[in-house]
Amino acid sequence: MKIIGLSGGLSSPSRTKNLVTSIVNEIAGRASHQSVVIDIADIAKDLGQALSTVNLAPSLQYAYQQLEDADILVIGVPVYKASYPGLFKHFFDLIDPKLLEGKVAVIAATGGSDQHALVLEHQLRTLLNYLGIYSAPKTIFAKDTDFTNYQLNNPVIVERIDAVADQALWLARQHHAAPVDSISPHKAKEDDFEVPPLGLLSSYA
Ligand SMILES: Cc1cc2nc3c(=O)[nH]c(=O)nc-3n(C[C@H](O)[C@H](O)[C@H](O)COP(=O)(O)O)c2cc1C
Repeated sequence: MKIIGLSGGLSSPSRTKNLVTSIVNEIAGRASHQSVVIDIADIAKDLGQALSTVNLAPSLQYAYQQLEDADILVIGVPVYKASYPGLFKHFFDLIDPKLLEGKVAVIAATGGSDQHALVLEHQLRTLLNYLGIYSAPKTIFAKDTDFTNYQLNNPVIVERIDAVADQALWLARQHHAAPVDSISPHKAKEDDFEVPPLGLLSSYA
């Protein structure tokens, strides 16, 4: 499988990029999957000048191609003014809304405090829903104090990354086993699915 990360911030170094990379590495490391991390900060100038997908800069063509080839996407954003960054949204505004339909994603965010952690649920997950992307139920949110020198320092978040990696791989395997348009909830039997360790009842973390 191909695991592609997208870090949606504009700064370098970046906590968000570190978080996205940690999640990508956790998933990719489970079975020597291929992985790449795209950083909006690296393509910001080309992205800011792009008004359509006609004559896209090579950096943007590469980024979109990586996302299109992905089996699992890891999409992380820093919270800017109670939302995701404008250029991150512009990256998605340019694409055909069906380009990423049916893909599996993990969503993650960083913020100065946890006051805006629900950006994950009411903004990032809804954007992915609109694009037809299946996001893992568990999300990852990390505050600035969860990092030291831009590296994650909080073992609770590291543990959460382990759980979200299970969920993403489980979703991706279901997708590989049965293309989305062939899945009927009426035909599915309980025995057809290997139940992942979602931990929904055992923990509120
Ligand atoms: C322009 C800007 C706006 C921000 N707005 C918020 C905000 O509304 N809420 C919040 O919790 N953090 C906010 N922050 C803090 C960042 O989300 C936080 O420091 C994050 O970890 C930055 O990630 P990075 O290291 O990848 O840049 C803001 C930071 C910047 C630069």
